[in-house]
Amino acid sequence: MARMSKIRNIVILTGAGISAESGVDTFRSAGGLWEQHRVEDVATPEGFARDPDLVLNFYDARRAALHNVEPNAAHRALGRLEREWDGRLLLVTQNVDDLHERGGATKVLHMHGELGSALCGQCDSRHRWGSSLIDRPPCPTCGMSALRPDVVWFGEMPYQMDTIYAALGQADLFVSIGTSGAVYPAAGFVQEAKAAGAATLELNLEPSEGSHWFDETRHGPAGELVPEWVQEMLAG
Ligand code: APR
Repeated sequence: MARMSKIRNIVILTGAGISAESGVDTFRSAGGLWEQHRVEDVATPEGFARDPDLVLNFYDARRAALHNVEPNAAHRALGRLEREWDGRLLLVTQNVDDLHERGGATKVLHMHGELGSALCGQCDSRHRWGSSLIDRPPCPTCGMSALRPDVVWFGEMPYQMDTIYAALGQADLFVSIGTSGAVYPAAGFVQEAKAAGAATLELNLEPSEGSHWFDETRHGPAGELVPEWVQEMLAG
């Protein structure tokens, strides 16, 4: 990997694998969410139109389950990196859980949205949301019963893509943690970063679909790999 001294701007991308050791299901592992539910039914606008109760119950259950899990050593290590790194750091997550924030990170870009937020389908306003949506509570802004989970479904545009691409264009180091590299545009970030001259590192339980793009790959549980890597970065 490029000499530490040369690294100032870091972009980190995380996926479901970073929350696996906290007991949050990943999507594509054996017994994962996409084996339990059909993507078309619970993660598309068409599925929501077809059966809103099924979709609202799915996300209500995931939101409620957040109360039973805690951030793990990987989340906490990234919280520490944010506090102690004196260069630029952008933490982008595909995850909709709140474990990065509960692990101490304060500037987390949720490109696929958050379980803790509700989006009004009528007036487009967003609201921090900790309870369920199945009873169609009125939107606090417009009063309409049009709230949906503020989660990016397949076929919808991820959030803050301009901010992400701008940071990738300036990155000295791109690190991918706990993601299978199966879903674009996130799966293409490594190539964007490489094109900008950044060094690239994958930390994942097993090789991802995009492993071959990375300068360096380390395979194992995030709860071990991430604290080790953060210590290396801060030790300089
Ligand atoms: N430590 C590190 N990596 C892990 C761990 C762990 N303890 N457990 C699993 N992994 C790895 C798996 O090997 C896999 O490569 O995490 C990855 C999880 O992959 P997916 O389940 O495909 O999740 P993710 O990559 O985040 O999915 C991307 O797809 O379904 C959509 O919008 C959803 O954000 C999601 C996107």
